[in-house]
Amino acid sequence: MTFPGPWLVLLPAQAVRPGAPPVPARLRGEDLVAWRTAAGALQVWHDRCPHRGVRLSLGRVETEHLACAYHGWAFRAGDGRCTQIPALADLAQVPGDVRATPWPAREHAGMVWVHPGAGPSDGAPPGIATDDARFLRTLTLRVPPEALQQPLQDRGFAPLAGPVWQGALAGRTLRLFVQEMQPDLLGLHAWDCDGVQVDDPLPVLAALRQLRDDVEATSGGAGAR
Ligand code: FES
Repeated sequence: MTFPGPWLVLLPAQAVRPGAPPVPARLRGEDLVAWRTAAGALQVWHDRCPHRGVRLSLGRVETEHLACAYHGWAFRAGDGRCTQIPALADLAQVPGDVRATPWPAREHAGMVWVHPGAGPSDGAPPGIATDDARFLRTLTLRVPPEALQQPLQDRGFAPLAGPVWQGALAGRTLRLFVQEMQPDLLGLHAWDCDGVQVDDPLPVLAALRQLRDDVEATSGGAGAR
């Protein structure tokens, strides 16, 4: 199991539907927009039109393009190139170097992951097996990353790869991906990896909340949810 680069969780994959309106998201101070083509291809771009800077998340999906809400420039999935400007009758006049800014993005274990750009992005997101992992919940904790290590170890969790931990809560095998969102603000993304879906996930969700509350109480954090 490897952790080849700083892949980060952006949002649940099911929140971005084929051909549906684009979804704004924010990650470490960057405004992003996630959308899918009508065929379902996932895109994550900077949420800024290269024409006049309007948010592309205000635009609409047109089959394989995202069209800006302001002047209607349309940007192609994949490379973000502008391929249509409604005010130009001749498509040959569309400048070839005008494009939106795509980020490397993958759908993995039920989530949309993005690569902020530092280091290679050709590997996979970190070790959350896709065949037996079921995404449970994201919790936020107002603590620095080091505040989480000892409480996880105290509960029998062990690091697997990079920021991925494995252990058990409420009788379920979990993998936790610890993501620094801002200084002193962590995202704790949890997957159930037992393979067999339980009818009632409430006990494990309650155990995760208790973990969060204990960590914040110990470190003096204030209950962000
Ligand atoms: S601001 Fe987007 S097309 Fe003009």
